[in-house]
Amino acid sequence: MEDKQRELGEEEKEEEHAKVEIWKYVFGFVEIAVVKCAIELGIADAIESHGSPMTLLELSSALRCDPSPLYRIMRVLVHLKIFKENPATQIGPKVYAQTPLSKRLLKSGENSMAALILLESSPLMLAPWHGLSARIQGISNSEFESVHGEDVWSHAAANPDHSKLFNEAMACDARVAVPAVIESCLEVFKGIETIVDVGGGDGTTLRLLVEACPWIQGINFDLPHVVSVAQECDRIENVGGDMFDCVPKADAVIKKSVLHGRGDDECI
Ligand SMILES: C[S@@+](CC[C@H](N)C(=O)[O-])C[C@H]1O[C@@H](n2cnc3c(N)ncnc32)[C@H](O)[C@@H]1O
Repeated sequence: MEDKQRELGEEEKEEEHAKVEIWKYVFGFVEIAVVKCAIELGIADAIESHGSPMTLLELSSALRCDPSPLYRIMRVLVHLKIFKENPATQIGPKVYAQTPLSKRLLKSGENSMAALILLESSPLMLAPWHGLSARIQGISNSEFESVHGEDVWSHAAANPDHSKLFNEAMACDARVAVPAVIESCLEVFKGIETIVDVGGGDGTTLRLLVEACPWIQGINFDLPHVVSVAQECDRIENVGGDMFDCVPKADAVIKKSVLHGRGDDECI
């Protein structure tokens, strides 16, 4: 009898939990929409250049937007714990402050993840996800190429703005991943004089590596449209080409890829 009652109690709890939980999926897209909005408006950048927490009016004036809709966006961002709200005091009104998370929304800087968020949430990159069920059922192929009529690299070559965003997005990941690799596996790079990064993007991976390993000369190898705008760095040569034709010779090769779960990497 007691077991039955306990079971019913559990079921009721699960039912109540489900009633609340389902709304996460109904409005799940709101979080990313608001974060994307925060990056595009430059909210974190405005507070950073102000140098201290800002009131709603200071923020709306810096961003040149209406305080009323901005207030609603700030409420969501505070609820998500992306920005902090410091309550009004006797000497001043409520202010919005940065957090370690909001600093990752800055448009530039070593910790910025803004470009990666903007890339992954762009209609172009989201489109293949809308065909996920059809792909699972084998009804259609929802990969980038099937949806957009060209592969991700040809699209980037023909669209410099998208290519710039793509390369900056890859650099966001490199700034997180490469220092972790260097910190835990520096030994691996000892004795290597030359290293080629195949599909090295804008050269961020190699830049971080040669900074940490001054004995290494790097070759940043990528498609011509990527290396033509890659960063110039001491001890790094940018070489354009197609890895399916040939790859520059070196003591070692790096092949780093951001995990997309979208099948992009099948293209390379
Ligand atoms: C997913 S990105 C990874 C970029 C960088 N390695 C990183 O992880 O931050 C793949 C890179 O491979 C390059 N790529 C694609 N096809 C290539 C090819 N056939 N030859 C050389 N590079 C290629 C792209 O331009 C792009 O920069």
